[in-house]
Amino acid sequence: GSKSENALVDAHELLKKFYHHLLVNTKEGQEAYDYLINRGFTREIIDEFEIGYALDSWDFVTKFLTKRGFKPDEMEAAGLIIKRNQEESYFDRFRDRVMFPIADLQGRTIAFSGRLLKEIKGQPKYLNSPETSIFNKSRTLYNFHRAKKHIRKNQQVILFEGFADVISSVTAECQQSIATMGTALTEEQAKIIRRNVESVIVCYDADSAGIEAAYKAVNILTDAGCSVKVATMPDGYDPDDYIKEFGAAKFRNEVIENSLTLMAFKMRYLRRGKNLQIEADRMKYIDEVLKAVSQLTKAVEKDYYLRQLSQEFSISLDALKEQQQQVRHEVK
Ligand code: CTP
Ligand code: MN
Ligand code: MN
Ligand code: MN
Ligand code: MN
Repeated sequence: GSKSENALVDAHELLKKFYHHLLVNTKEGQEAYDYLINRGFTREIIDEFEIGYALDSWDFVTKFLTKRGFKPDEMEAAGLIIKRNQEESYFDRFRDRVMFPIADLQGRTIAFSGRLLKEIKGQPKYLNSPETSIFNKSRTLYNFHRAKKHIRKNQQVILFEGFADVISSVTAECQQSIATMGTALTEEQAKIIRRNVESVIVCYDADSAGIEAAYKAVNILTDAGCSVKVATMPDGYDPDDYIKEFGAAKFRNEVIENSLTLMAFKMRYLRRGKNLQIEADRMKYIDEVLKAVSQLTKAVEKDYYLRQLSQEFSISLDALKEQQQQVRHEVK
């Protein structure tokens, strides 16, 4: 990185350490610390992920970094402070939040995400650093730098939506865990993943936003050359909730080990909102499954799912094969 980029990273590294100090050693950080402990985070985890606390102050960051030789325009370029309209004054972006440092692929701290301790109307639950010269959201994956060697060793990565999911998964001894941080998975992120591993388990929240996001993510990952499975949980749970309620062993043995194959997930997804007793829905479903089948690359797999459809809906295999050929020509 250039000299100016190094300064922005330095500011993040310094602030990360101080946020962590505030969380674990000070009276001001006590409430945030208790919040994390009540959520089931341990002191070891707080240290390992270098979680911190941003004071309830408008100018703490400006003062702290000014003392250490940083200029306001550098802090603003880093996304840490915000310029007041038409004034030569600034205020801290992150105030009274639990701070999750975000690293780039090499482990340099390049951004933060700050979580509210309790819901405040009109304020986002998580507030993230803006895009800067050092923070490109579409190329960042939370925890990738720590997970990398485990990803390679296990020849598998588990992809989550959020910070807490990754952290709980690591405590459940799945250290090959990374997250997209809530935004849709990008092609660039999928390429980064594929450069390191082929096998991806998508483990998103079991709510409609999570299921829709998972459906998009599996297609992006497949296009990038990954082989994908999808872990599912009871409705309404996210992986962090699940691990805290049912424990690490059940998460590994029932959620991760029992991940659905790509087609099983797609079939389940395509059934949502349909009543297969109704002919029109049934025909639409069969058509959509045939489209998904035609995207499979292995002949044996195609045959397997065509037979499954044939049995479930009492349709001749020949008719399904014929229709799948037609569908294939329609799908690019
Ligand atoms: N997110 C965000 N801004 C928000 C809400 C969510 O950036 N206002 C991102 C965060 O990275 C979050 C992820 O999206 O971790 C998933 O969102 P959600 O499932 O709502 O949050 P959880 O990770 O479950 O957070 P928590 O358990 O702390 O409530
Ligand atoms: Mn520590
Ligand atoms: Mn979610
Ligand atoms: Mn969630
Ligand atoms: Mn959660």
